[in-house]
Amino acid sequence: MGLSIVILAAGQGTRMRSSLPKVLQPLAGEPLLAHVVNCSRAVGADDVCIVYGHGADKVQAAFADQGLRWALQAEQLGTGHAVMQAMPETPDGNRVLILFGDVPLTQPATLQRLLDGAGSEEMAILTVDMPDPTGYGRIVRENGKVVRNVEQKDANSAEKAITEINSGVMLCPARKLKDWLDRLGNDNAQGEYYLTDVIGMAVADGTTVHGIKADNQEEVMGINDKRQLAEAERALQKRRVEALMQQGVGFADPARVDIRGTLTCGSDVFIDVNAIFEGDVELGNGVCVEANNVIRDSRLGAGTIVHPNCHLEGATTGENCELGPFARLRPGAELANNVKAGNFVEIKKSKIADGSKVNHLTYIGDTDMGKNVNVGAGTITCNYDGANKHRTTIGDGVFVGSGVNLVAPVSIGSGATLGAGSTITKAVSENDLALERTKQTTIKDWKRPVKKGQ
Ligand code: UD1
Ligand code: CA
Repeated sequence: MGLSIVILAAGQGTRMRSSLPKVLQPLAGEPLLAHVVNCSRAVGADDVCIVYGHGADKVQAAFADQGLRWALQAEQLGTGHAVMQAMPETPDGNRVLILFGDVPLTQPATLQRLLDGAGSEEMAILTVDMPDPTGYGRIVRENGKVVRNVEQKDANSAEKAITEINSGVMLCPARKLKDWLDRLGNDNAQGEYYLTDVIGMAVADGTTVHGIKADNQEEVMGINDKRQLAEAERALQKRRVEALMQQGVGFADPARVDIRGTLTCGSDVFIDVNAIFEGDVELGNGVCVEANNVIRDSRLGAGTIVHPNCHLEGATTGENCELGPFARLRPGAELANNVKAGNFVEIKKSKIADGSKVNHLTYIGDTDMGKNVNVGAGTITCNYDGANKHRTTIGDGVFVGSGVNLVAPVSIGSGATLGAGSTITKAVSENDLALERTKQTTIKDWKRPVKKGQ
């Protein structure tokens, strides 16, 4: 039996006080809606339909080319009305799982419990016990069985005292859901078409409604404002860090790390405070990330140490490299084994072979560097002529003195030496020494200017 997932994402999210639609607000670096879409994929939906409305263009643009189905809800007349918009193209024989675009922390395993807990002609809703249920729909049970939902604004005092709340997540057979939605009215405190009314309709029709409880409140937490967004961020980060600690990753402080993407770690990895990981990051065995590092879409080989205050993006290293403090590796920086990139060193689109050292105040761009090269402080590859980029090639065992400019395109043969302060514009052959300096002038007993009036 097929599974259609409908995600409600048409609401404005006024309380966010933002020009960005609510479902695009970032949680762990990704839009809220992306978390719900990922979860939908994880339970193997045959089709995922987004009901959209507010911020239509931005929402569709953010999720273009992802194979999603879109249903426009031009006017927001309630959650039941929202689901109606997705029904015409939903196959009658499917089951429909309804999710909310602003409930991002539900786990696939929890949805799977719902899918496994209800027969093909039955219905299931996800609930949770909340000590303070204010604002949520309450689940009314009789003899332990779910009989209906009542919204906060429509509840009497006895109903308000119920602590089992409706998460909004609901599973129904499509054919039955369509029938219930057709009969939905809006005669209630908010004048809206409540999706939750189908619960009572199902029971009246003799359809079993399973109330399945989530393990914790966080899984059903709805995000309406920046405070809740920050709360969800912490909850999600905690979840990610705990999973990594279980795999043996060490953290100086699990509360002071942010994973905005996927972090994959080998054994004996240690991460100090204030590390931010973005996109896909892989850390090999024994990698140590010291304090204050931002690492994005990068792969670091076993034993590599990242000293404090580095920024890495699109970089790869082999084993036992040493980066920073204050190194910046940009896209296409490929370091082999035992390479050092030290303080205030920037490396872009360059391959650096085993054992080479670029230790201080240097820019290496568009360069192929051999093994065991020593690059002196203040060296610059001048890769840009104002219009085009050119490459620099440096052979094995080259010694580059301090303050050298390499004007690309230029190539330096293996074993060559470049004298400090040289501006190298022509190829240097193997084992040669190239020097480019004017003759030093010395003026005897030079008197420096003095301030006027002294
Ligand atoms: C809803 C439930 C409530 C539940 C709570 C859980 C109803 C009637 N009530 O209430 O039982 O406890 O969620 O968080 O369903 N949306 C649309 N179009 C609309 C209205 C809403 O797409 O016309 C979307 C919103 O963007 C949001 C979601 O549906 O993602 C929930 O809507 P919201 O108005 O926040 O419902 P609640 O009042 O919180
Ligand atoms: Ca809500």
